[in-house]
Formats: sequence, C-alpha cells, structure tokens
Amino acid sequence: MPKKIGVLTGGGDTSALNATLKGIALKAEELGFELVGFMEGWRGVLKGGRYFTLTPDLIDENHGGTLLKSSRTNLIAMDKLGAAIENLKKLDISGLIPIGGDDTLTVGTALSEQFTTVFVTKTIDNDVGINPPEVDAVDYSKMVNYFCPGFPSAASRVIDAVRDLRTTTYSHDRVIIVEAMGRDAGWLTLSAAYGQADLIVVPEVPYQPDRLAEAIREKHAEQGNVIVVVSEGIRNDDGELMITSQAELDAFGHTKPGGCSEIIVEAMKKRLPEISASSFRALILGYLQRCGSPMPLDRDTAIKAGSLAVRALADGMLNGVATITRTDAGIEPTLLPLEQVLKRDESGHVIRRSLDPRFYDAERYQLSPAGAGYFRPLFGDLPPRALSLDEHLVNIGEIG
Ligand code: F6P
Repeated sequence: MPKKIGVLTGGGDTSALNATLKGIALKAEELGFELVGFMEGWRGVLKGGRYFTLTPDLIDENHGGTLLKSSRTNLIAMDKLGAAIENLKKLDISGLIPIGGDDTLTVGTALSEQFTTVFVTKTIDNDVGINPPEVDAVDYSKMVNYFCPGFPSAASRVIDAVRDLRTTTYSHDRVIIVEAMGRDAGWLTLSAAYGQADLIVVPEVPYQPDRLAEAIREKHAEQGNVIVVVSEGIRNDDGELMITSQAELDAFGHTKPGGCSEIIVEAMKKRLPEISASSFRALILGYLQRCGSPMPLDRDTAIKAGSLAVRALADGMLNGVATITRTDAGIEPTLLPLEQVLKRDESGHVIRRSLDPRFYDAERYQLSPAGAGYFRPLFGDLPPRALSLDEHLVNIGEIG
C-alpha cells in the first residue's frame, strides 16, 4: 500500500500557498505517496471535515489563495487534538504537513507530540522564525526562516500601492496615513520604504502622536505632501491596540486590529492646524495585500519548501520545519528540527518574531541600512528618492 500523507492550510491566506501545495504534490507523486488534502485548515481533520486526493494537475502555483481553503480553528481550545489524531489514523495517514503561521503551528506542535508532523510556514506578517544573533554585524545567513512564504508577495503589493499613491498625494497635497497588515510585527509595513514611504510606524515601537506630528510637519514643509505607512497592530504607550470598532477576538484569543489609520488622522489634524484638515486621508490596504498572484521568487521558494517537507517525511523525520535560508548562492529551503524554529511560551503558543530592531531607524521612522540589507535579495537596492515634481519646476512666479 502506498504511503499516505496529509496536508492542510490554516490562518490568513497568502499568494504563495498554492505554490507550497504544488511542491508537496509534485514530490509526493515522484515518491509514489498518496496525498490527501484536508479542507479549511484544522477543521478538515474533525468530524464532518472534507478531504480529497490532491494531485499536481489540480494546483496552479501562480494562483493566489489556497485551493484547500483555510480557517482559524483552534483544536487546543476545542479540546479536539485527540479526535483529530484518531481521524488521521482512521484514514491511514502516516504524516501530516500543516502549512501555517504561529496559530496553525501552535496547534501543529501540540499535535506533533503524538503524530508525525512536518511544517511549512506561511504568513504575510513574516513573524515565524528567529532573527540573527545580536552580535557584531548582522549575519543574514544565521536568520532562521529568512522569510515566510507569502511575505515577499504581500510586501511587493504594499510597495506598488505606496509608490502609486504618490501621484495623487502630490496632485492634491495630501497627507495620507496608509494602514498595512501586521498584527504584531512591522516587517510588511517596513517594506513600504521601497515604495518611498516618507514615514513608517511599526508595532515594535510605541506610537507617540506628538513625535509623529512633528515628523509629518517637517516632511510637509519640505515637500508639501506626506505618505505615512503604519502597521494595523501599533500600540499606544499603555500597550493598547488602536482599534475603531468594538474589540473582536479570534479563535486564538487575539484582538483583531483595524482602523488605527483613522485614529491617527484625527490625532494629526488636531496637532497640525497649519495643514488644512481636508488634506488628511486614511487608507486601509486590507486584503489587497494578501490576494493575487505570487511574485516569482516567493512562488519558487514556496514550491521548494513544500517539496522538502515531503522529502523529510520520506526520510522518516518525525517533526521538522521546512524553513528558508539566505546563503551566498541565494535563497534556499532548509529542513530544521522543530525546537530550533518554533519556540513556545509557557502557554504553549509559538513565539512570534518581531522586526529585528536593527532593521528600523525609529528616530527617522525609516528603514535602516541593515534593514535595506535584509530586503536586498527580495527587492534589490533601495530606489533613490524620486524628485518631487515641485523640484523640477523653473521660473516659478506668483500672481500678486
Ligand atoms: O494572517 C495574518 C493576517 O493577515 C494579519 O496580518 C491580519 O491581522 C489578519 O491576518 C487578518 O485576517 P482576517 O481578516 O482574515 O481574519
């Protein structure tokens, strides 16, 4: 009987999930394994859950989202880990590949104590992995999980959006506060530096309205328009999320962020009376960051990571993670034992990776040189600041 393995995708989707599934399906086929795809994340392995035989021809790696669909199902809170394992065994599944971020992997690590599990990460928040050691110069090759598949594609969408916004921001002298995703970590927001964001505000540093107002005042005086990009997960000095609606908890007990850009607009209008109140706008990028096709590097890396996870199961690895490593030769997937990648807190939750503080210049609200070094393999060199159209104008007169 051929070996039978399972796969599922949990949490928020990304553009590179189908690419990971393609890598898994191709390698499974090559090794003669039967691959079972469980629908809707962890929900798919519970009573009533749906599954089907997943073959490479069903999967388009250039199509965003996930063929398997996703959910935020918390088997631990539901006390359903045992039931899930029984169901997997009933189906003769001998190894499972959960693809997910910190929440999906928190459930997966608990399951892995009793069932063979190899993980592949995904999240546009880029918060699964470990930063390079804090000694001397940043050694990018020592970063565990250089990026989470899905992050580069989302970052490229943030970059494009912020770059494109400049034309309208210029035409109408706007001050636009753009809200990017990132529940706890500022990686995605920081990528906006490649779209020439003027100021970047991340959750790792408490939001200080007076300081931000001062920075906006300066930029506005300099160029007449300002684009600020903020993470949805920024917190005030008391550590509270800045949300506009009633606090809503997800299945893992996290408060859903949303609306901080609108709160900032109001705070800035009050502090900056010299700028017309009608210049300020809030813009929430929302799902436009997560949808659409993956960028080629992201897609190809995700395919390789998926394939490596199946290889690990074939080699008899009980618990591992297919991570991404930066080497001199480029970006390559690397298989690591679970405990080297997924550190857990006392309650068993996978600890999220914050933005490395060396990558962000909090004084200037900007990407630091070390941060530009991080993004280089993904987006090349930081583009030089484009001259504002004002700076090209000659013989400027003023009607008296
Ligand atoms: O999966 C991470 C993420 O994209 C966060 O950045 C965001 O806060 C969250 O998911 C939103 O997801 P949803 O609206 O699908 O619950």
